[in-house]
Amino acid sequence: MIKKGIILAGGSGTRLSPLTKAINKQLLPIYDKPLIFYPLSILMLAGIRKILMIVNPNQINNFKNLLGDGKRYGINIKYKVQKKPKGLADAFILGKNFIKNNNVALILGDNFFYGQSLTKKLEKSLTHTNGARIFLKKVNKPENYGVAKISKNIVEKIIEKPKKFISNFAITGLYFFDNKVYKYAKKLKPSKRGELEITDLLKMYKKNNSLNFEHIGRGAVWSDAGKIDDMTNVSNFVGSVEKVQGIKIACLEEIALSKKWIEKKNIIKNIKFYGNCEYSSYLRKI
Ligand code: G1P
Repeated sequence: MIKKGIILAGGSGTRLSPLTKAINKQLLPIYDKPLIFYPLSILMLAGIRKILMIVNPNQINNFKNLLGDGKRYGINIKYKVQKKPKGLADAFILGKNFIKNNNVALILGDNFFYGQSLTKKLEKSLTHTNGARIFLKKVNKPENYGVAKISKNIVEKIIEKPKKFISNFAITGLYFFDNKVYKYAKKLKPSKRGELEITDLLKMYKKNNSLNFEHIGRGAVWSDAGKIDDMTNVSNFVGSVEKVQGIKIACLEEIALSKKWIEKKNIIKNIKFYGNCEYSSYLRKI
């Protein structure tokens, strides 16, 4: 069973500069909330309450001001500074003391997921204790992502940003790993772009016949929000759903309340914290 999760919210966000000269990518707005709320909500929906947030040295206070130690949402958040963006797989080296001998989930701080079927799939996947599990989504431009070729229900090939087409299945920024992840991550060498690639880590699991996958399916939405157009698209999507349906996507209090991790009195406190805003009005309704 996976009970711990890492959110990678470091990186320089150069693709979003000059916005990211002022503030970390994961704190930029997606419609009415900071981007970081969305991946955090996914871990919470999966039932993960122990979270390690990997952040840049100069942004740690901004994250702490927003999320604190997580108590506000009935979870526990620890922070770890990443001095230099060394790649996604660096998360497991930085997270050594947090992971200890446990299985762990990793979600990228700029990834957006939405869909009811997804929560059920995540809950089911949490009980997998052997190997690594990836979540695939059919995309139009596989060359922008890590891609997996599936054949006879197994992962045949993995390529990071393939120049030549191998498959439409992008490896989304959500991964479940068993407790060998630190051992494998330590063996990684930086790629040509100077990063410890998550896809290289996945290849190690594949070599040991312990890489499995799950399709997110067409009923669910996934997007990497690391570029300005993607960010705007996701923002518009969230806005449309929220306005038409009168619900909020990634309302952390709503998730925590439904899981009985917090009580109504915590929500009242949070309303005071946020102040007079639309998010607070929504909290009053729930
Ligand atoms: C990273 C990973 C890639 C994955 C993607 C998902 O890409 O390297 O394998 O498909 O996240 O968002 P990056 O955003 O660093 O280009």
